[in-house]
Amino acid sequence: MTAKKSLSTILVSEQVPAHLARSVIEEKLRSAILDGRLPAGMALRQQELATLFGVSRMPVREALRQLEAQSLLKVVMHKGAVVAPLIGEDAVDTYNLRLLLETEALRQSIPNLTPEHIGAARRYIDQLDTETNLSELGRLNRLFHMELYAGTSNRKLLRLIEHELNEEERFLRFHLSTMGLGKPTQQDHIELVDAVHDRDIERAVKVLQHHLTNASNTIRHYLDTREPD
Ligand code: NI
Repeated sequence: MTAKKSLSTILVSEQVPAHLARSVIEEKLRSAILDGRLPAGMALRQQELATLFGVSRMPVREALRQLEAQSLLKVVMHKGAVVAPLIGEDAVDTYNLRLLLETEALRQSIPNLTPEHIGAARRYIDQLDTETNLSELGRLNRLFHMELYAGTSNRKLLRLIEHELNEEERFLRFHLSTMGLGKPTQQDHIELVDAVHDRDIERAVKVLQHHLTNASNTIRHYLDTREPD
């Protein structure tokens, strides 16, 4: 456990124009949560944030509500909004749910994907190969997968998937260096785009199932064997 830090040492205080306050505050908090500057369990107090950014509590409240909807914050009795815990004991449930959501999105998406989508997905694979900053890998992985689901017209399904991928990204940011997801993942990614390129829905779904099952097993194994924090 590191020493308790105050919000003002983490977030640079800055006057934001009133009409942009909600989105600016939301974005600043989101990136600080995703990169770990705001750790899980930290309380975010409306008044403190309002003072920090020189705004009323209203845009702060709205920003916190948005982040809660994305599961980055949780509202806890007597504490208010706190940074949500990372994936833990429900990791297996999460992957089972993702399997359902993502295979359905992939099925719907494949017939509508353009060569541009497929090209963009391949570029993310290249970036995953060369990226040396481990905390970027989760983000690139999310963008890669979302690209392949872009052909579905079901926006709600996409939002649910993006939400789960955000969670995974946040988890990987903290644990990837000790966990080491490596080459097999990239092999899946390549096979996945190849199947999508061939418009072979069944083959693509199989690769995705394999990919997510492996990720689930790796994370479960990691959580079972690491030192408790
Ligand atoms: Ni992946």
